[in-house]
Amino acid sequence: MSGGDTNDKVLVVSGLSRHFGSLEALRAVDLQVRRHEFVAIVGPSGCGKTTLLNILSGYERATTGSVTRQGRVRMVYQKDGLFPWLTAGENVLLGLRDVPDTMERRRRLDDLLGLIGLPRFADHYPHQLSGGMRQLVELARALAGESEILLMDEPFSSLDYIARLRMRQELARLLAERPRTVLFVTHDIEEAAQLADRVVVLTERPGRVCRALQVELPRPRSLTHPLVVEAIHTVLAEMGLESNSSPRRNGASGNRQKA
Ligand SMILES: Nc1ncnc2c1ncn2[C@@H]1O[C@H](COP(=O)(O)OP(=O)(O)OP(=O)(O)O)[C@@H](O)[C@H]1O
Ligand SMILES: [Mg+2]
Repeated sequence: MSGGDTNDKVLVVSGLSRHFGSLEALRAVDLQVRRHEFVAIVGPSGCGKTTLLNILSGYERATTGSVTRQGRVRMVYQKDGLFPWLTAGENVLLGLRDVPDTMERRRRLDDLLGLIGLPRFADHYPHQLSGGMRQLVELARALAGESEILLMDEPFSSLDYIARLRMRQELARLLAERPRTVLFVTHDIEEAAQLADRVVVLTERPGRVCRALQVELPRPRSLTHPLVVEAIHTVLAEMGLESNSSPRRNGASGNRQKA
C-alpha cells in the first residue's frame, strides 16, 4: 500500500465485482480512501456507480472482492431524502437521536441549523423549502450523526445550475467545519473537479477504474482556477469527450488503473 500509513485508510476496496445474474455491473474495482479525503466518482450512466455506493454502505453484497471500512457510513441521496411529514428541525433531530440529553440535542440542533444558515427554518416542512435548502437540511442531518464516511449519490443533480454552484461552496464550507470522508458520485465533471481531492473515473459497464486524478488545491476552489480547468479537461478526455491536448501542470496529476 502506498501513500502513507495503512491506518490512515478508512475505506479499502479490493478486487470488487458485482454481477446481477448475467449482467456484470462492476469488475475488479480497487479503491483506497484516506480519512477525510474527498473522492469523486464519475463515469458513464449505468457503469455501476450507485451499485458501488450500495455495496460500500452494506446495502448490497459484492459478488467477489472485499470492502473494509473504519467507522460508520451514511448515504446522502439525490432528493426526497427528508421525511415530508417532519419539519426541517425534526429531520435533523433524527441524526441526533443517539444523543441522550434533551438539552444537548437541542443545542446541537441549533448549532447545525446555524451551520447551514437556516436557523429560522426549523419549523418548516420540506415542501416549504427550496430544493437547495432541502439538500442543506439533508447535509445537516448527515453531519449530525457520528458517521465518519459520507456516501453521496449525485446529491445536487436535481438542482438548477446556480443552486448547484452554491451547494458546492456550501459543502466545501461544511466539510471544513465538520471534516468527513466523502465518496461523491456525480455526472457533473465540473463538480467533481471543483470539490474532490481525487477524481476516480470509471469505464463503461462493467465499471472499472480507468483513471484516478489528484487535484491538489485547497477548498473552496474557483471553478475557473487553472488546476480545476485542467482537471475538467483531463477527465473529459479520459471519457472520450474531448481530445487529450490539455497542458500538464504540477498540481493535477493522474495515474492510470490505480486508485
Ligand atoms: N438490483 C439490480 N438488479 C439488476 N440489475 C441491476 C440492479 N441494480 C443495478 N443494476 C444494473 O447494474 C448496472 C449498473 O447500475 P447502477 O445503477 O449502479 O449504474 P450508475 O452508474 O449508478 O448509473 P447512473 O449514472 O444512470 O445513475 C446497470 O446496468 C443496472 O441496470
Ligand atoms: Mg446511479
